[in-house]
Amino acid sequence: MSAPRLVYQVYPRSFQDSNGDGEGDLAGIARRLDHVAALGADAVWLSPIYPSPLADGGYDVADHTAVDPRFGTLADADALVARAHDLGLKVLLDVVPCHTSIEHRWFRQHPDWYVWSDRDGPQNNWRSTFGGPAWSRDPVSGRWYLHSFHPEQPDLDWRNPDVPRAMAGVLRRWRERGVDGFRLDAIDRLMKDPELRDDPPADGRVGLPLGEDDASLEHVHSVDAPDIGDALAVLRDAAGDDAFLVGEVFLPSDRLRPYLEHLDVCFGFELFHAPWTAEAVRAAIEGSLVHGERVAWVLSNHDFPRLPARVGAAHVRAAALLLLTLPGVAFVFQGDEIGMVDGPGSNPPHDRQGRDAHRHPMQWDGSPTGGFTTGTPWLPLVDPAERNVAAQERDPRSLLALYRDLIGLRRELGEEMAFLDATAPGVLACRRGADHLVALNLGDRLAATPEPLAGAELVRATAEPDATAVPAALEPGQGVLARRR
Ligand code: NOJ
Repeated sequence: MSAPRLVYQVYPRSFQDSNGDGEGDLAGIARRLDHVAALGADAVWLSPIYPSPLADGGYDVADHTAVDPRFGTLADADALVARAHDLGLKVLLDVVPCHTSIEHRWFRQHPDWYVWSDRDGPQNNWRSTFGGPAWSRDPVSGRWYLHSFHPEQPDLDWRNPDVPRAMAGVLRRWRERGVDGFRLDAIDRLMKDPELRDDPPADGRVGLPLGEDDASLEHVHSVDAPDIGDALAVLRDAAGDDAFLVGEVFLPSDRLRPYLEHLDVCFGFELFHAPWTAEAVRAAIEGSLVHGERVAWVLSNHDFPRLPARVGAAHVRAAALLLLTLPGVAFVFQGDEIGMVDGPGSNPPHDRQGRDAHRHPMQWDGSPTGGFTTGTPWLPLVDPAERNVAAQERDPRSLLALYRDLIGLRRELGEEMAFLDATAPGVLACRRGADHLVALNLGDRLAATPEPLAGAELVRATAEPDATAVPAALEPGQGVLARRR
C-alpha cells in the first residue's frame, strides 16, 4: 500500500460512546470517522481494541483476535473497517507482540511461550520500564517470569518458534478482516539476549526520556537484540508486503536501521521529546532525516503530556505547522487538532503510570459531556465549552481550520527539506521541496522573519487565515508557510 501521509490516532475508550455506558466503542468510532476524513487523514490507527483486564490501558492483551465487549464485537470491527474504506481511510490496528496480559490463556496453556528465570528469583538485573524489577514470581507455579512493563504483562519468548508462529497468525487474521496495517508496540523489546545477561550500568547515551529506574541501566541485553530482524521478518511476512507497518522503537534514530529493513516507518521519538527550541528541534529532525521519509513524525500520543503542556499554549499552532509540513508520514493524536489539554485524570487512577491526564474524552460539542456520551464518562471531560469540534468547524480562525488547511497543503510539498541558516534566535526555517518555505518562531520574543521569505507568497499563516503577505517579524509561537514567486 502506498504510505499514508497523515495518520490519525484514536484512543478507543475516549473517542465516541455509542451506547451510553460512558466508554468509547467501535460503533462510536465508525460514526465519527467523517471527522477524521474531513481532517484530511489517510489512515486511522486504533490503540488496542482487544479484550483486556486494563492493567495497562489495553496494552495488556488477553486475546489478540477478539474485540473487548466494552468496545463491541468483531462485526462492529468489520463495519468500522468498511466505513473507513468507504471514506478512503486505511485502518491500522495496534499489535502488542512483546507481551500479553497475564490473563491471556496462553500464559497457563503454553507457559513455555514466556520467559522464565531458572532460579528461585530474578534471572538478572533488568528493570521494568515502569519501575521495579522486571521479574515477578508467578504465585501458581512459584517460578519467576520476565515482564518489561507491568507484572500483569509477562513477556513472550520470541526465541520459541511457537511464539512468532502464533503472532503471525494474529496478523493474518486481521488482514483477512480487511485491516490495512499495524502499529507494532514496543518492538525493540521483542528479542532479548539469549543468555539473559545483566545490563551494565547506564552511561547516559540513550537521549530519550526513561523512567528513573529504567534509566539506571544501559539496555544492551534487554532490548534491541542483534537478531531482531528475524522476528520482524516474520511479522512482515504475515502482514504482507502491501501492509503498512509502523514500529514503536524507543531508540535514537541512529539505531533504527535494522527495524527499517522490515517495517515501513518507525516513530521519530527524538523530535517528540526534543526541548522546544529551534536548535534542539532542528537537531532532532536532522538526525531522523538520515532515514529519508522512513521516520514517522509525531509530537503527541496517549503516553505523554499533550501539546499545550509540552510546547506551551502559545505554541500549539507552531507545533502544528512544524509537524504537518515535515516530509513523509505524520501522526496526529485525537484532540490535538482542537488543542485539547491534559486533564485531572481520576482518583483513584485508571492508569498506574499517571497517563489518564492525556486520555480524557474527545470534545465534539460544548455540552457538559462534550457529545462524547449520553452517560457518565469514564474520565471526566476537561473543557468542552472552551474547545470542541463543532465550534471550531464554524470558525475559520480555529486551530482545527489550521490543521485542515495544512494537511491539505501537505500533499503539495515536495520531499526535500533543507534548513536555512542564519535565522534570528528562536526561529526555525527550512526550504520544502522546490517551491516552499516554512518559518516558525519557537522562541519567546518577536523575531525577524528569515530573509528568503521576504517577497515570497504567503500560503498560510498560523494566526491569520486571511493574511495576504509574509510578515516582517514573527510573534512567539507564530509561523508561516510561503511559496517562492
Ligand atoms: C507503548 C504504549 O504506547 C504504552 O501505552 C504501553 O504502556 C507500552 N507500550 C507497553 O505496551
